[in-house]
Amino acid sequence: MTEVVTAENPLLEGLRMRKPPEPFALSIFGASGDLTQRKLLPALYALALRRLLPERFGIVGVSRTEMSTEEFRERMRQAVVEHGRDEFRTDVWEALAESLSYVAADFGMEGGEEPLIACLDELDETRGTAGNRVYYLAVPPKAFAPIVTALGRRRSAKGWTRLIVEKPFGHDLTSARELNDLVHAYFQEDEIFRIDHYLGKETVQNMLVLRFANGIFEPIWNRQFVDHVQITVAESLGIESRAGFYEEAGAIRDVVQNHLLQLVALTAMEPPIDFEAEAVRNEKVKVLRALHTPGAKHVVRGQYGPGFIEGEEVVGYREEAGVTADSQTETYVAAKIWVDNWRWADTPFYIRTGKRLPRRETTIAIQFKRAPHPPFAVDSEGGLRPNVLLIHIQPDEGVSLAVGAKVPGQGLSIRTVHMDFLYGGAFRLGLPEAYERLILDCLNGDATLFTRADEVEEQWALVDAMVAPWRRDRPHFPNHAAGTWGPHAADELLHRDGRSWRRH
Ligand code: BG6
Repeated sequence: MTEVVTAENPLLEGLRMRKPPEPFALSIFGASGDLTQRKLLPALYALALRRLLPERFGIVGVSRTEMSTEEFRERMRQAVVEHGRDEFRTDVWEALAESLSYVAADFGMEGGEEPLIACLDELDETRGTAGNRVYYLAVPPKAFAPIVTALGRRRSAKGWTRLIVEKPFGHDLTSARELNDLVHAYFQEDEIFRIDHYLGKETVQNMLVLRFANGIFEPIWNRQFVDHVQITVAESLGIESRAGFYEEAGAIRDVVQNHLLQLVALTAMEPPIDFEAEAVRNEKVKVLRALHTPGAKHVVRGQYGPGFIEGEEVVGYREEAGVTADSQTETYVAAKIWVDNWRWADTPFYIRTGKRLPRRETTIAIQFKRAPHPPFAVDSEGGLRPNVLLIHIQPDEGVSLAVGAKVPGQGLSIRTVHMDFLYGGAFRLGLPEAYERLILDCLNGDATLFTRADEVEEQWALVDAMVAPWRRDRPHFPNHAAGTWGPHAADELLHRDGRSWRRH
C-alpha cells in the first residue's frame, strides 16, 4: 500500500520536539547595535511565531543610548520587518512587543547596573520571569569587564543565570584567558554560552548527522581513503561599515579563529559517545589540540584591491571608509594545516576565507583518493576525477557526491556527475537562522552548540602561532583584485602539492 505523506505545517516544526523553555528575562547588552537589529530580534520573532517561547518571559534592551521603551519597540519592529525571514504578523509582533523593555545604563559607572536590576525585579513581578536571567553580551570585549563584574555581584537569588557572549572572545590567547578568568570568577562554565554562530547553522549540524547517523561514511572518513579536505568560507561582501573592528581583527581573527577552525573540528572529530554538550565538545577540543601549527610558507595572506563583483565596480580594501591608506590588514587567508592524530596523520586540511571574493560560498569538500587502478583509459583533462563529498553549508544548502559515470553512447567515455541532496528540495522548509537555534538552546540550558573555554583557548593558540611571523614582514598589499579567488600564492600553496582548489 502506498503511504500518504502529508505536508507538515512548518509553524509546528520543533513543537513536538521539546518542551518550551522555562520563563526567563533576557537582557541584551548592545541593544542599539547592528547585531540586535539584524539577527537577535528577528530570531526572537521567528521563535515567537513558531510558539517556541514560553508563556512568561521578558526581553530588556540595554545600552548607553537614551531611548524610551516605545522608541525601542518601534526600532525593533522595523528591524523584524526588514531582516525577518517570515511574513510579518501584527498579532505575533504585538505580543512580542509587550515583552520588550528598554533600559539606558552605563555599566562603566559605579552603580550603573541599578536601573537594569530594578527592571528585572519588576519583570519577575509583572511577567512571572521567576528570577531566571539570560544576559546576552553583544558588545565589544573591552566593554565586558564592568558588565560581567556587576552582573556577577548582583546575581538573582532565585532561578538560574546564563551568560551569552558574542565573538570576538578576546584578541589573542592572553586576552582570551583573561576573559575566561573574568567570567569564571562569577559564573560556572555551564552557565557560559560563547557564540560561534556557525554552529547554529542547520547544515553544520547536518555534518554530524551525515557522519554519525550513516554507517557508510565513517569507515572511509580517514587518511586511508581521504586525500585531503578543503574548507572554504568565501564572501562577496566587503567589510561594510565595520572598519574599526576589521582593521584590528583581519580575516584570521574574524573568521579563521572561530568559524573555520570549528568546521575543521567538526569534520575531523571522533564520534562522540552521545550528543550531550560535554561529549561533543570533548571530541572537538581533541582535534583542536592535535592541530599542527603551519609554518610561514603554509599560510597565505591577501588583501583585495579594486575590482568587480557581479559586474559592479567595488573599491579596494584600503579605499573603504575608515581603513588606512597603507593598511596591512589581511582580508584573505589560506592555510594548509594538519590534524596530527591517528585518523588524519599526513592528510592536509586546506582552509581559506576572504572578503570580496566572487561569491558567497561556504563548503567542506572531502576529496577521496583516486581509484587505485582504473581499468579504463582516462584522459587527464575533464575525464575521471577523484570522488568528492561536498557539503554545502551555504547557500544552496545540501550535500553532493561526485562520482564517475559512463557517458551514454558507443565507446567508454567517463565523466564526473553529481548525486545531489538539496535541503530545499528534500524538506521544502525554510531553514532556521542560526541565532534562532542558539538562543533557544541557551534558554533550554543546552551548551552543545557553544564553544567551551578550552576550545576558544586552543583556537587562539593556533592563530597566535600563525600570525607570529607576520610581525616580521610587510606584505605587498593589495595582492588580488576584488571579485577574484584570492592571491596567486594561495593557488601555489596547493599546486606545490600537485593539487588545486576546487573549481568554482
Ligand atoms: C561573522 C564575521 O562572524 O561572520 C563577519 O564577523 C562575516 O565578517 C560573518 O561576514 C559571516 O557569517 P555568515 O553567516 O554570513 O556566513
